Amino acid sequence: MSDQNNEIVVRIEGLRKSFDDNEVLRGIDLEVRRGEVVVILGPSGSGKSTMLRCVNLLEKPTGGRIFFEDTEITAKKTDINAVRAKVGMVFQSFNLFPHLTAKKNVMLAQQKVLKRNKEEAERIAIEQLTKVGLGDRVDYKPAELSGGQQQRVAIARALAMDPHVMLFDEATSALDPELVRDVLGVMKELARGGMTMMVVTHEMGFARDVADRVIFMDGGVIVEQGTPEEVFDNPQSERTQDFLGHIS
Ligand SMILES: Nc1ncnc2c1ncn2[C@@H]1O[C@H](COP(=O)(O)OP(=O)(O)OP(=O)(O)O)[C@@H](O)[C@H]1O
Ligand SMILES: [Mg+2]
Repeated sequence: MSDQNNEIVVRIEGLRKSFDDNEVLRGIDLEVRRGEVVVILGPSGSGKSTMLRCVNLLEKPTGGRIFFEDTEITAKKTDINAVRAKVGMVFQSFNLFPHLTAKKNVMLAQQKVLKRNKEEAERIAIEQLTKVGLGDRVDYKPAELSGGQQQRVAIARALAMDPHVMLFDEATSALDPELVRDVLGVMKELARGGMTMMVVTHEMGFARDVADRVIFMDGGVIVEQGTPEEVFDNPQSERTQDFLGHIS
């Protein structure tokens, strides 16, 4: 999947984020290369979501810099919407519009942000929905779909924007166990297809299988990182050992 010579897509330098006097990110340095799948683990409150949200500029860093491809996205002049269009994000909650069909949900941002015409947006929506296994559900509304299907619509919606990187924040945490597999399957396919991905998840099987690199965060810093084998089979830090001991 990853190629050491590949260019850097996301570069995080000395990232800090405070909410009032609570410093949640305390100096994160991280580079993600084209085609790389980075899985981020860590206890609740360690700053995983905040870090992903900073990459998408949903949160404004209080220190450090973030680069997306050639653009410093933390620079004042950066067009936030242009960056967001290329950074796909999938959350625990699907955030679909309830009154719109799956197809319309996937068409909307294509038309609004990318200015695609209706026919093209519709063609791409059907193509992406088919890719996530929902070719026969394009005219269903969210309430008529299972949680796993709704999450796959959310993934299709992100993919329809031709993102250069996909961020997943506990995309399967709200799903019943039997629905988790389908969503992980779609994510796995995406990874195999060469998508650059930053994935916060508690699914250790997925991490082991799909990650090129596993990052362990605690207290707003990266405590340890390595290949899945390194981190899972031979964790160096006591905090990582502790965390893995509790979840397995
Ligand atoms: N908008 C906010 N305002 C104030 N504090 C916040 C805000 N967002 C996050 N925090 C705080 O930042 C810390 C890190 O939160 P974050 O959501 O990044 O953790 P996390 O690692 O994603 O945890 P979890 O595994 O529970 O999702 C927490 O202490 C949280 O309360
Ligand atoms: Mg979180």
